[in-house]
Amino acid sequence: MTEFPELSHNPIRLLTETAERTEEIGAALAAALDENDSFIALYGGLGAGKTAFVRGLASVLTPGAYVHSPTYAIVNLYTNPDRSTQLAHMDLYRLEDDDDLYSIGCDEYMPDGKYRGDGIRRLAAVEWCEKLPSVLPGRYIRVTIEGSGEETRFITIERAGGDCNIKNNDSISN
Ligand SMILES: Nc1ncnc2c1ncn2[C@@H]1O[C@H](COP(=O)(O)OP(=O)(O)OP(=O)(O)O)[C@@H](O)[C@H]1O
Ligand SMILES: [Mg+2]
Repeated sequence: MTEFPELSHNPIRLLTETAERTEEIGAALAAALDENDSFIALYGGLGAGKTAFVRGLASVLTPGAYVHSPTYAIVNLYTNPDRSTQLAHMDLYRLEDDDDLYSIGCDEYMPDGKYRGDGIRRLAAVEWCEKLPSVLPGRYIRVTIEGSGEETRFITIERAGGDCNIKNNDSISN
């Protein structure tokens, strides 16, 4: 199985030539997450492989879940067999503004970093955050897939978000 060096602001860039390889890289990311990593933002054009990547994430986080595109449902919820982990797979492509997010109830699934007292680890993997950038939390993992169709694709994975920068500067000055 693919393993990453420690995830950081230094982007990891990997080549993928098949959907299976993209899934494997998603699985490797899931295995490298720490407990505070709860939001994965996926960027890339139509058909780039964002949903394929989430299939890999789910194979580790919520094994057995049937991963399919949430383009019409907006959110698919996957849980692992003992229900200790919940992965909300969202696709914001069809949403217009933040009100849509609330009216559909998606905000319910956003992992807000708060312990809700039920012991469930909540994560979100979100496609098309470009549509509603306000959903991005202070700290998240950014996955960018370049290329589509017959082209060779590259996947870039990095930590992102304002909170990370503050943390980073702190660690430099300390
Ligand atoms: N290296 C690759 N990585 C991912 N998918 C690939 C790759 N090569 C070919 N494919 C094919 O490209 C398609 C990717 O579809 P997928 O639904 O994952 O894209 P998406 O980025 O989620 O698109 P959308 O924006 O429409 O939701 C699949 O049909 C998959 O088999
Ligand atoms: Mg998709």
